[in-house]
Amino acid sequence: MSVQMVIENARQLVPAQLDDRDVVVAFFGALHHYNASLDLDFTLSDAWETIFDEQFRSSYNDPNMMWLLAKEGNKAIGLLIAGVHTDSALFCHRQWVEVQALYVADNYRHQEIGQCLLSAAYTWAEGLKLSRVQLYVTASNVRAQSLYAEEGFVTSQTIMCKTLW
Ligand SMILES: CC(C)(COP(=O)(O)OP(=O)(O)OC[C@H]1O[C@@H](n2cnc3c(N)ncnc32)[C@H](O)[C@@H]1OP(=O)(O)O)[C@@H](O)C(=O)NCCC(=O)NCCS
Repeated sequence: MSVQMVIENARQLVPAQLDDRDVVVAFFGALHHYNASLDLDFTLSDAWETIFDEQFRSSYNDPNMMWLLAKEGNKAIGLLIAGVHTDSALFCHRQWVEVQALYVADNYRHQEIGQCLLSAAYTWAEGLKLSRVQLYVTASNVRAQSLYAEEGFVTSQTIMCKTLW
């Protein structure tokens, strides 16, 4: 993944490296802590950190993955994880870029960092000749949904859950 760009002044988007492991894990944990506060079904398992760390180590430089950090100087302030998703050969349109995680640190929100991270995912998708970027968002996460709507995302499917016990 070769996307690297300056946002403004000392802020830039850079591919995460092994040295960034701790902050990537911390941001992913914070994102899912927030998701779990909206819906307990998204609570991470006890082993998540080990599993996630292994995923990062094995795919941070995979050309089909994008592990992107927004940084101010050397300080990481945002994270986007995206990957090329390939669906079953049953379907004509079966490949797209899926945004798997988007997180901006509390003190840096409302400064268009989320938008910049998403733009980098569009640029990456275009480079791969993939015309679709998609993501999952929790139904009650209206803040993220308003960003996605502003960015031109529309709902294409709804996941419906019935809790049996
Ligand atoms: C969602 C999130 C990534 C947005 O990051 P951000 O850098 O603040 O986003 P931007 O500044 O690019 O936001 C652009 C627009 O999105 C909407 N938006 C973003 N944060 C918002 C908030 N806290 N309240 C209301 N609208 C918000 C607004 O339309 C905003 O424009 P504005 O700042 O001029 O009002 C960030 O709030 C976050 O990390 N939240 C917790 C994790 C999360 O929900 N991730 C998404 C999971 S699917």
